[in-house]
Amino acid sequence: MIEPALSIKSLSKTYRNDVVALDGVDLEVETGDFFALLGPNGAGKSTLIGIATSLVNKSAGQVRIMGHDIDTHFSQAKSKVGVVPQEFNFNKFQPVLEILTDQAGYFGMGRRAARDAAEQCLHQLNLWKRRKQTPQELSGGMNRRLMIARALVHDPELLILDEPTAGVDIEIRRSIWDLMRRINEDKKTIILTTHYLEEAERLCRNIGIIDHGRIIVNTSMRKLLEKLKEESFILYLEGPVTAPLDLEDFSYKLLDAYTLEVVLSHGKTLHRLFDLLNRQAVTVLSIRNKANRLEELFLTLTGQSVEPS
Ligand SMILES: Nc1ncnc2c1ncn2[C@@H]1O[C@H](COP(=O)(O)OP(=O)(O)O)[C@@H](O)[C@H]1O
Ligand SMILES: [Mg+2]
Repeated sequence: MIEPALSIKSLSKTYRNDVVALDGVDLEVETGDFFALLGPNGAGKSTLIGIATSLVNKSAGQVRIMGHDIDTHFSQAKSKVGVVPQEFNFNKFQPVLEILTDQAGYFGMGRRAARDAAEQCLHQLNLWKRRKQTPQELSGGMNRRLMIARALVHDPELLILDEPTAGVDIEIRRSIWDLMRRINEDKKTIILTTHYLEEAERLCRNIGIIDHGRIIVNTSMRKLLEKLKEESFILYLEGPVTAPLDLEDFSYKLLDAYTLEVVLSHGKTLHRLFDLLNRQAVTVLSIRNKANRLEELFLTLTGQSVEPS
């Protein structure tokens, strides 16, 4: 059996100020996946990542990275994961090559091996020409690439990026997308946090949606998009329904004898639905569009994504 890249069970986190950031999270990300963790600001994304990368202490629960428990097999777990944090945290005055060499050394490589790994990584990420420069001399896009290089220098199997495209212009965003795709094609598992649905849609195979410290959706991107295309309606009827209705391939449910809920999936029309109801002498008094929890959440998310962060 192949171990999942990340396995989280009943994970909770309460910060010292009594803020509950994670409230019983269960989540599994399979090896090789490109996974999106989508959620609005304050949902708990960075806390989850902080715990998975041993930067934040959890309050309760269990986390495994490639099968290694972060409590009982700390150093194995740590060596398998690379993280690109939400905020820049370099020494601005240290040359790029040294930053990467130090990072490799921090993962236990000898000086020579660390230097080789750093050089190779700079070539791969198109930063070789910049090796003697310092972060304060680099553009925003290059610094983002440097963050990714630093996360990859010890050759982890799982790469986690915490909102790597928040607040960057479209050109840099595209180049980060390409880079992440390449890394995933290179057999590394990727977990990306974002509050852009569009970004998750373009890149990711599977998705978890987190809100108020809870996972509210965990599915494949394809299924989620299909679900978003569906619309539900509540129909209030004049008389009671006493026998099963024939609504062909509309799926429906009777909430009570006078209230019908119908799902309108892609390509189906209300006209057709009313036609079928008419034939069975069912008269509709009024109709209401049933707001979908998911759609509401996405509105919030999309609303936030247009603001600079
Ligand atoms: N170090 C901290 N101390 C106290 N509360 C925190 C700390 N870090 C995050 N929080 C709170 O925990 C919640 C989740 O935050 P975070 O994990 O950063 O969410 P996200 O990354 O999804 O925006 C928020 O309410 C935030 O204010
Ligand atoms: Mg965050």
